[in-house]
Amino acid sequence: MTAVDPEAYRRDGYAILERFLSAQDCEALKARAAELAAGFDPDESRTVFSTRDQRHARDRSFQESGEAIRFFFEEEAGDAPAAHALNKIGHALHDLDPLFDRISRQPRLAALAHDLGIARPLLLQSMHIFKHPRIGGEVAWHQDATYLHTRPVTVTGFWFALDDADRDNGCLLALPGAHRGPLRRRFHRDGDGFVTTELDPAPWPAVEPVALEVPRGSLVVLHGLLPHASAANRSDRSRQAYALHVIDGRAVYDADNWLQRPNLELRGFV
Ligand code: FE2
Repeated sequence: MTAVDPEAYRRDGYAILERFLSAQDCEALKARAAELAAGFDPDESRTVFSTRDQRHARDRSFQESGEAIRFFFEEEAGDAPAAHALNKIGHALHDLDPLFDRISRQPRLAALAHDLGIARPLLLQSMHIFKHPRIGGEVAWHQDATYLHTRPVTVTGFWFALDDADRDNGCLLALPGAHRGPLRRRFHRDGDGFVTTELDPAPWPAVEPVALEVPRGSLVVLHGLLPHASAANRSDRSRQAYALHVIDGRAVYDADNWLQRPNLELRGFV
């Protein structure tokens, strides 16, 4: 299946396309990420990524990562070598690494973005997420538009499961339909620092979270206002994923977004 049911996507705020990527592509991406991790010298920086305290925001490695390939560690990694300790690699893999570029710019994905109404797609951000066995950290409930903001909101997430993802290894959790509520907060630049500004105090709606359990190769499309999260991975299996975020170039990309690319122009699918 390569098409999203537009009615269901409008209703739920997410869509699942199973087996979008081949097993071969999943393995190739994992191998490439492992290769990048192996080539990383942790003496350069050991930035810990945490959605609880946003401590990474103080780190230059994070601040510049919008136009680079940078490495972020798990809170619980201790002194483990990067191959076993990384939370993720980001955030310009899709522009700077040939394999991630090819996967991100495949025509089927361009067609899907078009079907979703993204008329002038710009590939803004990419992340390889490791979610290693036992130490893979949780991701707190959030809306992606908190971090990647356009007016109007256009950010759309394309999340590829590179391993089978289920409740035990920290699959995505979502609040179906809750994308129809307001954006609650923005994380943005403020002078030399970063702040989180509350825009709307409304709590998440009282809907039962759904666990988006998907087999390897599946693509989960996430509306930029959909509240989603994932639990820590306490299993002995990894839950690797590749996430690509696309915006519509017709919208205004706020100058105070954390992600800035002064030296690398944003591109679409071609
Ligand atoms: Fe997200």
